[in-house]
Amino acid sequence: MSETPLVRIRDVKKHFVADRSFFGRPRRWVRAVDGVSLDIAEGETLGLVGESGCGKSTLGRVVLRLHEPTAGQIFYGDQEITHLSGSKMRPLRHKMQIIFQDPYGSLNPRMTVRAAVAEALRQRVSGLVSSEEEDRVGDLLERVGLRREHMRRYPHEFSGGQRQRIGIARALAVDPRFIVADEPISALDVSVQAQIVNLLMDLQDELSLSYLFIAHDLTVVEYISHRVAVMYLGRVVELAPASAIYASPRHPYTKALLSAVPIMDPSKRRKRILLEGDVPSPLDPPRGCTFHPRCPLAEQGLCDREAPELKAAEEGHLVSCHLAE
Ligand SMILES: Nc1ncnc2c1ncn2[C@@H]1O[C@H](COP(=O)(O)OP(=O)(O)OP(=O)(O)O)[C@@H](O)[C@H]1O
Ligand code: SF4
Ligand SMILES: [Mg+2]
Repeated sequence: MSETPLVRIRDVKKHFVADRSFFGRPRRWVRAVDGVSLDIAEGETLGLVGESGCGKSTLGRVVLRLHEPTAGQIFYGDQEITHLSGSKMRPLRHKMQIIFQDPYGSLNPRMTVRAAVAEALRQRVSGLVSSEEEDRVGDLLERVGLRREHMRRYPHEFSGGQRQRIGIARALAVDPRFIVADEPISALDVSVQAQIVNLLMDLQDELSLSYLFIAHDLTVVEYISHRVAVMYLGRVVELAPASAIYASPRHPYTKALLSAVPIMDPSKRRKRILLEGDVPSPLDPPRGCTFHPRCPLAEQGLCDREAPELKAAEEGHLVSCHLAE
């Protein structure tokens, strides 16, 4: 893994219009992503975790410019891409890909695997004769652990894990450097989840890919990620090397999330911290620290008034909490 950031995200916001007046003016906004700054290095996996609705997928899509950011800046290498036009963005689209939870949804059921992978391949290389194209598709299928003969089949003839491999082959066809993996294994049987995770890690080693790996399962995130960012209500509340987040979480929210992870070794078990109430609506986030209504440590007069900044509690370990020092 190199130290050079491949992708830089600076104070990015994405607010969706939730409600319009009779005259069509926006009346209320969903603050799905509300000021996130992150770097992802070449060859690095940055894990992104947090409860449903905290803005993980929205952030992933904004970084790829599949959503227009409301504010902030996004850089790919040295180039700012925040507001690049469609035509200027096109060559970069190859460099930045996404794989989804449900590859079936993104595969056309009436297209053979050959056609589906070739369609992606043609975005990068044009003018291949049929036999060359077939060779390339076959190579891609083998690279993701499928067989060349599989190219003649249709998506429904494959298992969930195999379909995810086809989705990965399609993403690889354009020779990307950065991949947003949005819960790529959540829909798979536990027995195949590890195979897909290992495939992604092998591909990273071979091709020096960078991943933004979005997941609910904290154990998987620890295994695959170099660093982990924990999101709550559209913001990053803790960011640290994976080992540090798991060994010594600093933010009360991270502690609560981790306390829910089943651990076999009784000596390492943590006391379960149950959070009260639901995640507040991103339509109307609480004042001060947005976690204060659920935080077991919240201090009246401080946490309900002042928003804490995300800052280093120690080298490389950032926390957004007044009590983190
Ligand atoms: N296109 C949209 N229009 C309006 N609101 C949206 C849109 N997409 C997402 N949202 C809202 O933004 C917030 C963040 O959603 P997002 O899908 O990014 O969360 P998530 O962390 O990926 O959740 P999950 O773990 O369930 O996938 C949610 O409140 C969601 O309802
Ligand atoms: S700032 Fe206060 S409310 Fe927020 S996490 Fe820290 S202790 Fe809890
Ligand atoms: Mg999501």
